[in-house]
Amino acid sequence: MTKDNPILVTGAAGFIGFNTAIRLLQRGEHVVGLDNLNDYYDVQLKKDRLQELDNFENFSFVKGDISDREGLTKIWSEKGPFRRVIHLAAQAGVRYSLEDPYSYINSNCMGHLTIMEMCRHTENFEHLVYASSSSVYGGNEKMPFSVKDEVCKPSSLYAATKRSCELMSYSYAHLYNIAQTGLRFFTVYGPWGRPDMALFIFAKAIAEGKKLPVFNNGDMKRDFTYIDDIVTGVIGCLDNPPQRVNEKTPPQRVLNIGNTKSEKLMDFIHIIEKEMGKKADIEFLPMQPGDVKETYADVTETTELTGYEPTTPISVGVPRFIDWFKSYYKI
Ligand SMILES: NC(=O)c1ccc[n+]([C@@H]2O[C@H](COP(=O)([O-])OP(=O)(O)OC[C@H]3O[C@@H](n4cnc5c(N)ncnc54)[C@H](O)[C@@H]3O)[C@@H](O)[C@H]2O)c1
Repeated sequence: MTKDNPILVTGAAGFIGFNTAIRLLQRGEHVVGLDNLNDYYDVQLKKDRLQELDNFENFSFVKGDISDREGLTKIWSEKGPFRRVIHLAAQAGVRYSLEDPYSYINSNCMGHLTIMEMCRHTENFEHLVYASSSSVYGGNEKMPFSVKDEVCKPSSLYAATKRSCELMSYSYAHLYNIAQTGLRFFTVYGPWGRPDMALFIFAKAIAEGKKLPVFNNGDMKRDFTYIDDIVTGVIGCLDNPPQRVNEKTPPQRVLNIGNTKSEKLMDFIHIIEKEMGKKADIEFLPMQPGDVKETYADVTETTELTGYEPTTPISVGVPRFIDWFKSYYKI
């Protein structure tokens, strides 16, 4: 917890990075946040998150790109070295990967490699925790999704980049003994959430009286995970780095981090309607390319290794999001 062992959080202006940084700061860690503040969604929301982080003395922010080798080397020497890294910066979103595939390779693949290279050259490096995604399971029909399931049929380029990160990490753990944990997040939601994700889109459409697009005619299920549970899991993982057991077992692992309950999309929408005090004007649409019908997490290994136990049902988490949404947008 000392100043000479700061934690680097990449994607600190993003939804999960911001919330993770706050919790670390609250427990007295020194946190350096890195983000390129790209305009994939509202930049003002990212700046407002950073303003909240600025309230902490033990926080500092650097604007930079994770795929920029020289820039990252400079940040490491000026603000680091970082022996603990929580790497959450990425080009997120399944649907956008059909529109701008190159941004996914730059940020998710080149960015991941650059972060690993920095870790590799850091003396006494402790742990790299990085974001993967439930999307690596593709159209897996076996429920719940287990880390033991095969993951070689990604349904989108986004999923392919996340699976690539897991494979690159395995090789670096094997070659250079860098302790790493990849976390497969399952549809994270909550206050300060992402404007391109379902909950935000639905709340906004209802508030503005606009049509609410619902794909696959509403026949979808998601393992919605509340942000506070995610943050507890991310930090629990950070504090429990994997060890090398023997020559054949590198110090790395990939874990599911979900809510262990797959909810019907329409039930989710009904809670939003109730909290907004307004009915949604639903427009049922066909399945979107790249999307998957259902996600459902088996977190057995995550619980065993880190004590992770999600506690927030959507009946509690969605109202918390709507409270934040109404207050942030003064509705
Ligand atoms: N939110 C979810 O439900 C979910 C689900 C599965 C996986 N994930 C993964 O978790 C991580 C965090 O997701 P999030 O929901 O907070 O997304 P987010 O988009 O809110 O945060 C990502 C942040 O990374 C920054 N960024 C993007 N490319 C960058 C680059 N090249 N250099 C520096 N910064 C860059 C963005 O500006 C953004 O602030 C991502 O890796 C995402 O793919 C999220």
